[in-house]
Amino acid sequence: MPRFHIFPFGCQMNRHDAEALAGRLLQDGYERAATPEGADVILYLTCSVRDHAEQRVWSHLGRWRAPRTSGKVRALGVIGCMAERLGDRIRSRMPHVDMVVGPRRLAEVPALLERVLEGGGAFVEVGGPVVETGEQEGCLDPARAARLNAFQATLPVMRGCDGGCAYCVVPRVRGRETSLPPEEVERSARELIGRGARPGPMEITLLGQNIDRYGFTLEPKTTLAALLRRLAPLPGLARLRFVTSNPRDITDDLLRAIGEFDNVCPYLHVPAQSGSDRMLRAMRRGYTRARYLDVVRSARRIVAGVELASDFIVGFPGETDDDFAATLSLVKEVEFQGAFIFKYSPRPGTPAARLDDDVPDEVKRERHRILSETQLAISLRRNRELIGSEVEVLAEGPSKRDPNRFTGRSPTGRIVAFASQDDPTGRMVNVMIEDATALVLLGRACCDASSCAKHGCAT
Ligand code: 5AD
Ligand code: SF4
Repeated sequence: MPRFHIFPFGCQMNRHDAEALAGRLLQDGYERAATPEGADVILYLTCSVRDHAEQRVWSHLGRWRAPRTSGKVRALGVIGCMAERLGDRIRSRMPHVDMVVGPRRLAEVPALLERVLEGGGAFVEVGGPVVETGEQEGCLDPARAARLNAFQATLPVMRGCDGGCAYCVVPRVRGRETSLPPEEVERSARELIGRGARPGPMEITLLGQNIDRYGFTLEPKTTLAALLRRLAPLPGLARLRFVTSNPRDITDDLLRAIGEFDNVCPYLHVPAQSGSDRMLRAMRRGYTRARYLDVVRSARRIVAGVELASDFIVGFPGETDDDFAATLSLVKEVEFQGAFIFKYSPRPGTPAARLDDDVPDEVKRERHRILSETQLAISLRRNRELIGSEVEVLAEGPSKRDPNRFTGRSPTGRIVAFASQDDPTGRMVNVMIEDATALVLLGRACCDASSCAKHGCAT
């Protein structure tokens, strides 16, 4: 059978789609190639959120020209957001690409691939059926995804986005917002838990571009809070996470639902994008700095031990030194656990693309540097506060950097590298924190959290 290799780019949704596609191809009898060079089928799950992400794919695609033309590679596919955005233009520039398939047509990839391998020609399949409320056509079964490990899974509960942020290409390429009905989410979650390593903990991360709007388009309407209350009690579910939040749509009821369950992680990835009201308006984010700070306060009041992470865009059209100073002050005021910082990249077809990209690249770079350094100093200080305390970690495996350590994550997603007597992979362990950098907590396992007398942890 043909051997495949998938290159995933971009967000967690894309990574999920890559795993779901791999799961389906394995089920169909394909094999996974040990290296890309050993593959007959090369597939890219692409991202269009910034120009840089697309440039990387173009340069990759160029490299497959000779192997594809000589027949060493039998099929080359570009799938996902970039496929949707550019359609035919991908094949005009790279005629050796056999398949261009948009994110709403993922389920068609296996059949198209078969046709390519049978010599059936090339295909460009973008757009999508107008997705009706409650349906998620074009998706592959999340419970059968070929996951990185048996104890962690992602579960898309929404697709598309109606957010309408001025800079964002997502609504253009992934279409209108749709939610998966709660009973289907529950069915997939139960199946995932059932397929997990047993006995052992299972961590599920719910995915949506704007996940606080989960259920708004469903009939009957429901909420993310209701979904958390439905899933958290499922037996065997050790951790439940969700990303990504928009401050506009976070409610006190959602925060209460997070606080009600020990296994719902007290973590919100809630991008602010800017600390300047003028910029937030231009970005069409639908909230003000004051509203953002209100959400932060409510989260900290309602959810014990909550940690917040954010995204920021620097150099959005018209961003002045004062606007940037407002962003910097927001970062200092909130003290995020971490933040992802991006230089603005105009995306064709978005409302902001009509604005003059007037912040020079060196200014963007400088603002990026200042904001990153400020956040790293905050992250370091906050991580160092944990030295001497114990953190519960879901162990993911041996550390790639240090063979004497294992790595895993804390309930709020901090990376923990730790020494352990035995291999704790796939188990919850309590780790005594002994040192910290801005990005990693370092320590040693003091016990297995599931069978611990010292902590009285439940088995
Ligand atoms: N330019 C730069 N960053 C962007 N993001 C989204 N669109 C753009 C763009 N055009 C960032 C936002 C978002 C994250 C996923 O990517 O910060 O939260
Ligand atoms: Fe893009 Fe805004 Fe939707 Fe997020 S909420 S995917 S930034 S349009």
